[in-house]
Amino acid sequence: MVERQTRAHVEARIRAGILEQGTVDLLVEAGVAARMHAEGLPHDGVNLAVDGHLFRVDLRALTGMGVLVYGQTEITRDLIAAAEARGGAPLFEAENVALNGVETDAPFLTFTRNDQPHRVDCGFIAGCDGQHGVSHAAIPEGGRRTFELAYPFGWLGILADCPPCHEEVIYASHARGFALASMRSRSRSRYYIQVPIAERLEDWPDERLWGEIETRLGPDIGHRVSRAPAIEKSIAALRSRVSEPMRHGRLFLAGDAAHIVPPTGAKGLNLAAADARLLAAAIARYYRTGDTAQLDSYSDTALKRIWNAVRFSWWVTKLMHNFPDASPFERRLQRAELDYIRASRAAQMSLAESYVGLPFR
Ligand code: PHB
Repeated sequence: MVERQTRAHVEARIRAGILEQGTVDLLVEAGVAARMHAEGLPHDGVNLAVDGHLFRVDLRALTGMGVLVYGQTEITRDLIAAAEARGGAPLFEAENVALNGVETDAPFLTFTRNDQPHRVDCGFIAGCDGQHGVSHAAIPEGGRRTFELAYPFGWLGILADCPPCHEEVIYASHARGFALASMRSRSRSRYYIQVPIAERLEDWPDERLWGEIETRLGPDIGHRVSRAPAIEKSIAALRSRVSEPMRHGRLFLAGDAAHIVPPTGAKGLNLAAADARLLAAAIARYYRTGDTAQLDSYSDTALKRIWNAVRFSWWVTKLMHNFPDASPFERRLQRAELDYIRASRAAQMSLAESYVGLPFR
């Protein structure tokens, strides 16, 4: 495992927080579930707020499943600790990482570390280095196709040590823009608000942000927001992107290196976990039996699940946000769809089954 950043950076970076049952199962199978089970918060429902009025979608009643709130940052720490315990700790602070010979049977990585050159010979290379990493760029442009949609807004997020305003996650559609109330524990809250794409962090001192969060969550719940100084505050642009195929020779892409979804559906981490599960099984099968069938079908199999999650994430994003260029007609349609979800068990079922995650196989 070769990592460009420092261990401290990787272990402190604030990322997603909602685990599907399939992701939980995978971490159990991988033997890294102890702290997740001890500290994770099981949620049986998720809430939508429309202009300040809350309604609950009962995930458990509709699907028999819930989700687990446990930070990706914590999973990363658990995985690094487990890798270290089995003697395979990541090589942090690797510079100038390059992929070589991926079209041959003997690919290798080169990089420098502490000014020393290194080479790692590989059977396969798993490109798990995100949208800005070197892996996806190692697939020649003529050999891949990228599908992309940029949304005209970002999310401003805040993490703070104060009790969450509600026991479950709330997605709020409001005339002033989308807001999300989430958490990392019973004493640590995570909130986001939709902001214009060019917004500057300096323009959002904590008090202004807390006020906006309260307003957008609205009368049912806004007054329960407690405030604390930000531990982390950042703005992320929202986009959907898929790069096909996810394989080039002996290079296999997984996670954000191959696909980006807006955070609205809470799918990014779960998709990456599903890729990793599929790829690990395919590589294990190859080394056990010499059979390449699962490696050969990896990209197609993964992309089916990915496109469904891309669809869901796009749909929730369209449903919940204020699009600056939406026509009055489109705004009414958006409202009608929210009213339909509130009133229809079938519509809630559709939302719920995607939110908890479709089964792996
Ligand atoms: C989070 O807690 O960071 C979070 C929760 C739900 C989302 C996105 C992010 O859809």
